[in-house]
Amino acid sequence: MTKISMASYRLPLVSTGAPARPADLLDADASAEEVVVAYHERTKHHFHRYAAALGCMDWATQPDPFRRYPGADLVRLPLPKPGRLLPYWQLYALGDVPSEPLSLESISLFFRYALSLTAWKRFHETTWSLRANPSSGNLHPTEGYVVLPAIERLRGAPAVYHYAPKEHALERRAILDAKAWSELCAPFPGGSFLVGLSSVHWREAWKYGERAFRYCQHDAGHALASLRIAAAALGWGLVLLDGISNSAIADLFGLSRAEDYGTAEREEPELLALVTPALALTSTQLLNGQTAGSIGAQWCGRANTLSPAHSVEWPVIDKVAQATRGSGSAPITEDFSRFPTEEELFGIPVRRGLLTAEKAILGRRSAVAMDGSTAISQEAFFRMLARLMPTRDRRSMPWDAISWRPRIHLGLFVHRVEGVPRGLYALARDPDKLAALQEVMRREFRWQRLPSCPPGLPLYLLQEGDCRALAATVSCGQSIASDGAFSLGMIADYMDSLTTYGAAFYRNLFWEAGMVGQVLYLEAEETGIRATGIGCYFDDPVHEAFGIISREWQSFYHFTVGGQVEDTRLTTLPAYHFEQEQ
Ligand SMILES: Cc1cc2nc3c(=O)[nH]c(=O)nc-3n(C[C@H](O)[C@H](O)[C@H](O)COP(=O)(O)O)c2cc1C
Repeated sequence: MTKISMASYRLPLVSTGAPARPADLLDADASAEEVVVAYHERTKHHFHRYAAALGCMDWATQPDPFRRYPGADLVRLPLPKPGRLLPYWQLYALGDVPSEPLSLESISLFFRYALSLTAWKRFHETTWSLRANPSSGNLHPTEGYVVLPAIERLRGAPAVYHYAPKEHALERRAILDAKAWSELCAPFPGGSFLVGLSSVHWREAWKYGERAFRYCQHDAGHALASLRIAAAALGWGLVLLDGISNSAIADLFGLSRAEDYGTAEREEPELLALVTPALALTSTQLLNGQTAGSIGAQWCGRANTLSPAHSVEWPVIDKVAQATRGSGSAPITEDFSRFPTEEELFGIPVRRGLLTAEKAILGRRSAVAMDGSTAISQEAFFRMLARLMPTRDRRSMPWDAISWRPRIHLGLFVHRVEGVPRGLYALARDPDKLAALQEVMRREFRWQRLPSCPPGLPLYLLQEGDCRALAATVSCGQSIASDGAFSLGMIADYMDSLTTYGAAFYRNLFWEAGMVGQVLYLEAEETGIRATGIGCYFDDPVHEAFGIISREWQSFYHFTVGGQVEDTRLTTLPAYHFEQEQ
């Protein structure tokens, strides 16, 4: 079998180029787009130089993974009884799941599936928790917020809450004026509410330095998909409100209230989504950014400090955060009429499966090592990839939560899929971008369809051969990328996205990549295998592997899927001590 390696390519490696000049990014007169491009270049990992970070673990300043707002009322959510029987496949059959009424119980289930703890792990004297949403380095920079109408047993008034995952509880940050809330929600069906995410950059920067902003965005993307999936399990719709400004989100969740933070680490507003009991919602119905910020009434609670000190600061993160703050814009509307139907994507739509939704969602874990032997069937492989595609009717979950056409395409390293030759593949997640991808990638690639592949799945064999070593090499030498069934690089239609939607869309690219990852995590569970997000990869060598020289396309995330090797040294404990008592 031919071995595909870096050495087999004729292109010179560009990964040893001169370091990006810090001045590029910190120049006072740089435009927002220039700041983004400079940040992205500067935070690339190269074979001979990683992006700037402390270089060691400063355990004395390790951030607390749990934000709390002492002084705010804590409303414990009733822990849902385990064993809900909804089949996993039904998450994707929108309309099949009856819509749950809004109640303390349904909100509890929503957060349980979206952002709660799913286990504690112990090794000798050390314990750490895992959550429904994954996180780079398990550092969990993402915080969840919700604005709920008056609900029985939630003290009878609309309010803003922070979700506290360790307690599975809501901290009531503000009570809202009932009239202002009903005006804000007037365009939405009764029972709708708002949910949002913020990032504590410091949690990731503590370990990963300048590249941390990227990881915060990936994590927000995973959490967005996790929220969408949780809503689907309750028969609810969820859409990202992409026209709203970051400052409106900050005002709505109280993140702009300097007096509530003091010297505690601040949170960067990321995104706001609308959850509705009905599924169909057009983006023209979306909420007006001006009103969202003006409904806060009585605020309570002050943020806890997460690290006793910060031994190092990373000003470029503040700079890129500022450059990518949306200032409010018209919601994105794009045409999906040339996308495949569910039948074209899957052949026969999936209406049976292995797991319940709950088992897949709460059982999701990252593989720490892959076994180098497990192969998957081509049906499972095609199904996993088909789940990553929006459909023509815009009803494929979780892609119904975002309004833009896919900007993230996949360059795959296929190692062990029965009936599928080993080698490099491409999945053009927007079928209209096929020609652009062919243009930008290596000339000698074959772009060959597999006879058994469903007609609507835009998957192409580029080059046959053993690419295991190549996959590991470009993923910072991590063997999880070579020892799985397949791994992949997510290639973003980068420059065109920034010029079309502006610098703020830099974040959306990571969110989309994180959403792709979250779907793969759950699909791996359903297949009886595992997956792992890979944020550590060598950016330019990935481009070289696929022959991409143009800076217009950039690698945004890596992922691996395969049979895991369990770490038997670890003890697993329940997520919540009261789980044991049930
Ligand atoms: C954005 C992102 C990047 C990650 N990068 C890596 C990586 O490079 N290598 C790795 O082994 N795991 C990586 N992971 C997996 C995390 O370490 C894992 O999600 C975390 O430890 C929590 O474990 P869990 O996913 O089982 O909940 C990444 C996860 C995310 C979300």
